[in-house]
Amino acid sequence: MSEKLKRIAAESAVKEVKDGDVVGLGTGSTTYYAIRALGDRVREEGLSIKAIPTSVDTRIHALEFGIPITTFEEFDQVDIAIDGADQISEKLDLVKGGGGALFREKVVASNAKRFIVIADESKLTKRLSMPVPIEVLPFAWRVAERALIKMGVKSVAMRRAKGKVGPLITDNGNYILDADFGEISEPEKLETEMNKIVGVLENGLFPSSMVSEVHLGTKEGVRILKK
Ligand code: A5P
Repeated sequence: MSEKLKRIAAESAVKEVKDGDVVGLGTGSTTYYAIRALGDRVREEGLSIKAIPTSVDTRIHALEFGIPITTFEEFDQVDIAIDGADQISEKLDLVKGGGGALFREKVVASNAKRFIVIADESKLTKRLSMPVPIEVLPFAWRVAERALIKMGVKSVAMRRAKGKVGPLITDNGNYILDADFGEISEPEKLETEMNKIVGVLENGLFPSSMVSEVHLGTKEGVRILKK
């Protein structure tokens, strides 16, 4: 069921893409449906777009589905960015980075004229409470971890590579720390505080000020949430 809800949310967002758009493409299983639907529009409607992918994985999927790729060297902004989320609060703040792609996702989202979040309804919650993924430079990961402990984090864990020994390595060659703060009452403040830590590249809190709308797949159809 959740696959269907992800798909309808993704397809709803893809309808918003216009001819000539530069499109930011997120990462994850929900975004996969958006890449596929966008590829269909390119093929069937002759839609002329270019995409900036947020991960190596997404880049490969986009190429597979016939979507031309571009970069921030060619364009200073994307017209529309479409991406999933791990948790969405009622106020539309997000936790992202479950797939480890949060840095490029934040670069794209913060340089998007419109940022549309796609998710199934299980991602919606009153307040954010998931551990926040933080991308840290390997040289300084312990330094960053100690600083998070000083900030009052409940627990922090280095993300391990699935099926392998050792840390997960991001597309940027870094590590991920998952930092549990419990319920997050001031996401914007926490986002800024974490990014002040030396060794932190970026974190997975995406404040609602970045989000244009959320397309939520529900059993009753797609609900569009706006601030
Ligand atoms: C990737 O780093 C994440 O930010 C994803 O957007 C997020 O984990 C949602 O992924 P799913 O669509 O697979 O749930």
